Amino acid sequence: MKYNILMLDLSSQHAKIKTEIDAAIHEVIASSAFIKGEQVYAFENELANYLGVKHVIGCGNGTDALQISLMALGLKKGDEIIVPAYAYAAAIEVVLLLGLIPIMVDVDPNTFNINTDLIEDKITNKTKAIIPVDLFGQSANMEEILRIANQYNLFVVEDNAQSLGAVYTFANGEKKRTGCMGNIGTTSFFPSKNLGCMGDGGAIFTNNDELAKKIRMIANHGQERQYVHDVIGTNSRLDSLQAAILRVKLKYLNEYEMKRNQIADFYDSYFKNNTSITIPYRDKKSSHVFHQYTIQLSENINRDEVKLRLQNIGIASMVYYPIQLWKQKAYSHIKQNRDADFPTSNMIRNTVLSLPIHTEMNVEIQTNICVNLINIIEALQLENGSN
Ligand SMILES: Cc1ncc(COP(=O)(O)O)c(C=O)c1O
Repeated sequence: MKYNILMLDLSSQHAKIKTEIDAAIHEVIASSAFIKGEQVYAFENELANYLGVKHVIGCGNGTDALQISLMALGLKKGDEIIVPAYAYAAAIEVVLLLGLIPIMVDVDPNTFNINTDLIEDKITNKTKAIIPVDLFGQSANMEEILRIANQYNLFVVEDNAQSLGAVYTFANGEKKRTGCMGNIGTTSFFPSKNLGCMGDGGAIFTNNDELAKKIRMIANHGQERQYVHDVIGTNSRLDSLQAAILRVKLKYLNEYEMKRNQIADFYDSYFKNNTSITIPYRDKKSSHVFHQYTIQLSENINRDEVKLRLQNIGIASMVYYPIQLWKQKAYSHIKQNRDADFPTSNMIRNTVLSLPIHTEMNVEIQTNICVNLINIIEALQLENGSN
């Protein structure tokens, strides 16, 4: 049997909202306000309301969002920035691009987010900021990150690209959306993200008026008024077409999150008694928006062979992220580069497998994924004479 199951299905999602999206696009075309139009400001306000944050500033993409945020903090070359050792490369990339020094910290074996027990050991008098990256849809341990940041006078820039919409609950019962707890939060509207546009897009969040003003300037050539450049900036803008599309999709974000959670629950109940599969950990302090549904396979199972066999029958799966950050050629000059420094990141890289999850998945597709995955694992165990 050959399936055609993809990691995500944006066309079916689009089909359901096509009329609204078409109308939004036509409105922008009719207005000819393609850059810095009304749609952009309206979207920024609507997202700010949704998040419960004072300022949202649209920008070109999630990587720019991180870069602009770090530029706004007035850091000096050689300042050290704490980043997770297991994450998408964007954070470490912009840190290096700005002449800052990334200090990697291993991650928590359950949440895969930065391990807060290991942060303080890495702090020196050059440390200026922590960038927690909320992996796969769940918040990092913000209570502890904020405590450390407060104690050592560090900035916190939350990379919220995978967890937009997740809610974090502090020990005192206070609840906040991810991306809105540190000094600055950043996100990406890459099409596959939970709130995705139809091209590139990103945004920066902050409750600090001064930072908001500076971020807005940096994203627009360092100018507050046209042709007056007060700081060195860049050109990174969310365009009006993307903003108009995002305004439509933002209305569905809660529904999309609910759908993703239903799919995750289905997978959980199918796999929870299987001793070869560890289902995603649900942190009590954070809701999960399931940007990815990522299982771990037992170390005695050849994860890459499982992925290949799924692919051979037309079922997509992904490994996020297959190569350790410290082994990437581009970053190999940074000092900390031994597998032994990051045992959890190393273990995760070898065992994780993300399964298809998207808002249009039905039970039939999910059942086919589950049944075939289990069959493949059992076949491999038989071939290896183990179970
Ligand atoms: C955690 C994280 N940070 C940053 C980015 C970068 O976003 P963009 O592709 O919009 O630059 C991504 C995108 O994949 C991401 O997953």
